Amino acid sequence: MIRGATIEETYRLMVDKLARVVPEVELRIKAELVFEINRLKDERGAIILGHNYMEPALYHTVPDVVGDSLELSRKAAQTDRDPIVFCGVRFMAETAKILNPNKTVLLPAKKAGCSLAASITAEDVRELKRQYPGVPVVTYVNCYADVKAETDVCCTSSNAARVVEALGSDCVIFLPDEYLAQNVARETGRRVIFPTREPKSTGARDAAPRNLHYHLIGWHGRCEVHEKFTVADIVAVRKQFPDVVVLAHPECSAEVVQASDFSGSTSKMIEFVKKSKAPRYLLLTECSMGDNIIAENPDKETLRLCSVRCPHMNEITLEDTRDALLHNRYVIEVPEDIRVRARRALDRMLEIG
Ligand code: 13P
Ligand code: SF4
Repeated sequence: MIRGATIEETYRLMVDKLARVVPEVELRIKAELVFEINRLKDERGAIILGHNYMEPALYHTVPDVVGDSLELSRKAAQTDRDPIVFCGVRFMAETAKILNPNKTVLLPAKKAGCSLAASITAEDVRELKRQYPGVPVVTYVNCYADVKAETDVCCTSSNAARVVEALGSDCVIFLPDEYLAQNVARETGRRVIFPTREPKSTGARDAAPRNLHYHLIGWHGRCEVHEKFTVADIVAVRKQFPDVVVLAHPECSAEVVQASDFSGSTSKMIEFVKKSKAPRYLLLTECSMGDNIIAENPDKETLRLCSVRCPHMNEITLEDTRDALLHNRYVIEVPEDIRVRARRALDRMLEIG
């Protein structure tokens, strides 16, 4: 809607859409940045992919495509534009690079990490494979390329249960999100066990339980945002607003997901609010996404607990996005031997859908 508009028109369009969630004085400055980014994007033939957690003034203006991890991976696999600017976190930009080895992939902020991705290393996965020989490994896309390379198939919050079931295996190693593992286990009628980290090597192999019929073998990684939501939060909000519909991301604990009315990927939550007729929602996920939903659904009340923000997603600003296009930074590289193996795991996920 904003492409091809003057700065003044850009500002007006942004006020119309975003005045409820961004102060007007900020929109004046941001409109200039949006104008500059769209000019640079056209000049460079770039595509901008934006995750649903981007702040509203960015999310609603510069990305060509917005979505959850699965949608953005699919789009990254299809685009013919170059460079790809990824307004999201590092593991997402790496995914785009793995799928597009000949294109330049830019991540606007160097430090945009993820607590889940930081929770596990490639050596941890190799050790688990030694402990459980022959058991297929599924990793959530929230991990780095070298971890994906050790994996049979990746999944996202949108397709995790489908991917696990598609393997047709009694026992599956499911990494690294402890809570997503619990939620997928419930959905697929399995139990989760968590192997002890020590002792490693030969001792650990002997310690592996033998009877693993219909199990997931999990890992103690957690999202530093979603782990903070509690059942007490839900109870308190329901007490004040008995008609509230509670939506929880599957990175929340199993107790929180069970106490909620709906759980799904970020895009599924957005879609739910759009389609539902209920007047009021509580979103248990990153706070900026609540702002984005409010901007799109002015007739509905969206409650969110804004003490909880993702510091990594919040690293990505309009200024950084402009500078990424201006200075060609920060270029994502993945060593070719890792990329080829990680690509197999992503391709299998995209085939399953
Ligand atoms: P989605 O794939 O649901 O967008 O989740 C990504 C993420 O990092 C949530 O914290
Ligand atoms: Fe990672 Fe959690 Fe931030 Fe998503 S919200 S990027 S899982 S730390």
